Amino acid sequence: MIYIIMGVSGSGKTTIGKALAKATRLPFYDADDFHPTTNIEKMSNGQPLNDNDRQPWLIRLATELYNWEQTEGAILACSALKENYRQILRSKVKNITWIYLSGSFDLIYNRIQQRKGHYMKKEMLQSQFDALEVPDYGLKINISKSVGKIIHNILESKSDFGVIGLGVMGSNLSLNIADKGFKLSVYNRSEGNEKEVVSQFLSKNSNYKNIQGFTHLATFVESLQTPRRLLLMVKAGEVIDLVLKQLTPLLSPNDIIVDGGNSHYLDTKRRAEQLAKININFIGTGISGGEKGARFGASIMPGGTPESYQKVADILESIAAKDKNGQPCCAFIGKDGAGHFIKMIHNGIEYAEMQLLAECYALLKLNYSYDEIYAIFKSWDETDLSSFLLEITANIFQKKEGHQYLLDLILDKAGNKGTGSWSSQAAMQVGFPATMINDAVYARYISSFKEQRQFLENQLIINKKPYSKIDILSLKKAYQFARIINHIQGFALIQQAADEYDWNLNFSEISRIWTNGCIISSALMEQLVDYFKTTSNLMEHPIIWKQLNESATSTQEILTLGLQNQIATPVFSSAYQYWLGMTTGTLSANLIQAQRDYFGAHTYQRTDKDWSKSFHTKWD
Ligand code: 6PG
Repeated sequence: MIYIIMGVSGSGKTTIGKALAKATRLPFYDADDFHPTTNIEKMSNGQPLNDNDRQPWLIRLATELYNWEQTEGAILACSALKENYRQILRSKVKNITWIYLSGSFDLIYNRIQQRKGHYMKKEMLQSQFDALEVPDYGLKINISKSVGKIIHNILESKSDFGVIGLGVMGSNLSLNIADKGFKLSVYNRSEGNEKEVVSQFLSKNSNYKNIQGFTHLATFVESLQTPRRLLLMVKAGEVIDLVLKQLTPLLSPNDIIVDGGNSHYLDTKRRAEQLAKININFIGTGISGGEKGARFGASIMPGGTPESYQKVADILESIAAKDKNGQPCCAFIGKDGAGHFIKMIHNGIEYAEMQLLAECYALLKLNYSYDEIYAIFKSWDETDLSSFLLEITANIFQKKEGHQYLLDLILDKAGNKGTGSWSSQAAMQVGFPATMINDAVYARYISSFKEQRQFLENQLIINKKPYSKIDILSLKKAYQFARIINHIQGFALIQQAADEYDWNLNFSEISRIWTNGCIISSALMEQLVDYFKTTSNLMEHPIIWKQLNESATSTQEILTLGLQNQIATPVFSSAYQYWLGMTTGTLSANLIQAQRDYFGAHTYQRTDKDWSKSFHTKWD
């Protein structure tokens, strides 16, 4: 630990420095003792020092600070009035805690007059005040307090936690953390306007006395208690690597970095391995719940080592949503990329759930008004179909701008930030048929071809049939059927990846932390908490099996109705196709094998022989 106590002459640097040295058991140094003899001679002749005189002195101090940092640390009393002096002082050390002793001219002048054997002309003190450039970092301590209080303030001043990135999620999570009584440092890095973002955040939330803001990364790091605990809330991808590159030289062994963005799980795995080499803990955590969840309770999915999780569990669990038993919707998931992996699949499930509701809407609007669709969704939400997404979707049908429904003013081109397609890619990689996630991603891609779609619709030469009326009860059953298949696929994909990456996951616990705070929280998720206590294969759970059997026919009806009316329902369809495929004992894949063997001698297994053996036929 390096503390530099700075301020004008007479502000009490030596007194505070020595008292702090006693409290921290660190050695105390007075910067004046390091002046070269030429400076000492000049000063004893009453000549003021200029910046050229100070240069070798400051450089020597920088070297001393470096040496002290390598050993036990130190407390240095040094006026360091100007920023360029401070820049030299910090040039060789990683972390300095700057303590600026602040007081009015009159207070300091009167104190100097009372000191025995001290005499300072008013003009000399004034010249110090004129030279002073107050730092916009570090601790500013008002010297009117007692020495004991000042030392207490300095020791108490380090933050419990740091947040890097004050975007929507970062700022809401920061307020959530501060609400729980943690002392927090926040830092924002964004080209050109860093100051503005941080100061706007601080002035908007000036009632929070436990938040300190920083625009200088090193001083932000210095403001944290060791081992340092920090949360990265910056854009996933290259930006994370960039921030880590700047951040890690400032950190010490055992510090903990939590990445709370939607990072790719393989990037998380790589970063955790790299940082482990320098003894820095890396926790990749999924955080779901959007702006509201971040502010008032999110679902949090941390991955890394259990030991490093324990060091941040108090904070993460305090800002998490609570399940129906009051337990935090935050639990350690597994090693390296496991937390980000399950967040990615959470989003994949989210994509399919959203698309199912969009397909219900496409079918319902054949016969029903928005008010009626609102009422239908609302009534479903009062049953065991209830979910966060169903609730907000119902509300969307009520939102108007003037006389128009807002929904009608929103262009039908769905965006995406990539986690859905990552889920599909991961499914492909581990060889799992996550058909609903795939089709939900593709449905968004198809929607992006707006102009082409409009053009082609106008060219259609086939007749549109009159609409057949939708049976709401069948649609409700089909929706339940497809949702169950979506969850079966999502969890089975997680299982397959867990086998591949050697993660020991607790599915009951994963569904529990998804019962509140996250986008896919639902009554079904509540049920899964119990089902996973007895099985890891949802499809074979007796209640699930019964529900699927009872609603499969309705799904077929709904798909037929969609086709008759030329309404695209790809995700309902993939749910049903998955069901058909998985419940068909003998598929036509024998023909695929015959074809493969015919043109490529890829071999096949035989029904009449041992399945572990391969056969090849000369087909021509
Ligand atoms: C959440 C959300 C959140 C966000 C995703 C998906 O769990 O809070 O999933 O992470 O909505 O970024 O966004 P896209 O639909 O843009 O891919």
